[in-house]
Amino acid sequence: MTEPAARGHNSDLALRPLSYALGVEVVGLDLTQNLDDPVIEAIKDAWDESHILLFRGQTLTPASHIAFSRRFGALDRRDATPFYRLKDYPELLEITTRKVDGKPSESRNVGRNWHSDYSYSDTPAAASMLFCTERPPVGGDTMFCNMVRAYETLSDKMKRIVDDLETVYDISLTAGINERDPAKVAEMQRINPPVAHPAVRVHPRSGKKALYVSERASHFRGMTAAESKPLIDFLCAHATSPENVYRHRWEVNDLICWDNRTTMHLALADFDQNTPRHMLRTTLLGEKTGVIIGAATP
Ligand SMILES: [Fe+2]
Repeated sequence: MTEPAARGHNSDLALRPLSYALGVEVVGLDLTQNLDDPVIEAIKDAWDESHILLFRGQTLTPASHIAFSRRFGALDRRDATPFYRLKDYPELLEITTRKVDGKPSESRNVGRNWHSDYSYSDTPAAASMLFCTERPPVGGDTMFCNMVRAYETLSDKMKRIVDDLETVYDISLTAGINERDPAKVAEMQRINPPVAHPAVRVHPRSGKKALYVSERASHFRGMTAAESKPLIDFLCAHATSPENVYRHRWEVNDLICWDNRTTMHLALADFDQNTPRHMLRTTLLGEKTGVIIGAATP
């Protein structure tokens, strides 16, 4: 098991653990400044170790949010997810309860089941960086779980079983997708057919193994949905057990960066949706791990 006590020892950064299972706050950095390369490297090391980074009190503009994000890699797949972009800043996804074109925002309910971003794509997101500009008076929390610990705390026999599986992801299993514009949903389904990824992924920097099974998995490749469901349900319940979760209560000007290869997250609907909640997200492009298998292939 990863030893959380080892976290927080990075010599170049002031780090404060967020929970036993995962996450650290990085204290004392202003992300609008052009940080030196060694600082960026130290941030990467802390990120690999803790999977979730929190930077509080940031005064990011869309441009500085994008510039900071680019220090960690290429951004996004707008071809896979063309909607809900901030005007004039297509690198930023806008997740908001504000009305858009006079209508309720379609992004107000994204993220309502446990997932890793862009798992429906053959090139899922490496990481996401979410910035809070407005938050409800109470609630609107986000939960994160540690998929390295989820893997490491399985029995050896179960590890061998999941090592040999491929998870098939289907964008139609995204929570709340049926409440969105049907034409946009159809387009997302067309450009993102079901895709199989390894059920256990190896992180390209840390070499750690992480479970890659979420509530958006339809089945395991080569198995029926009925055969797969009990195992998907077990693995999701195991991964999201309370001791493997960090729950973030947002403050305005928080930036949270999560590694999609080693965590899952869940956006809670525990708030009055008539109150404002406004977040902006950059998404870092990851490794191609998926094989498109099409709608009809088990
Ligand atoms: Fe998400």
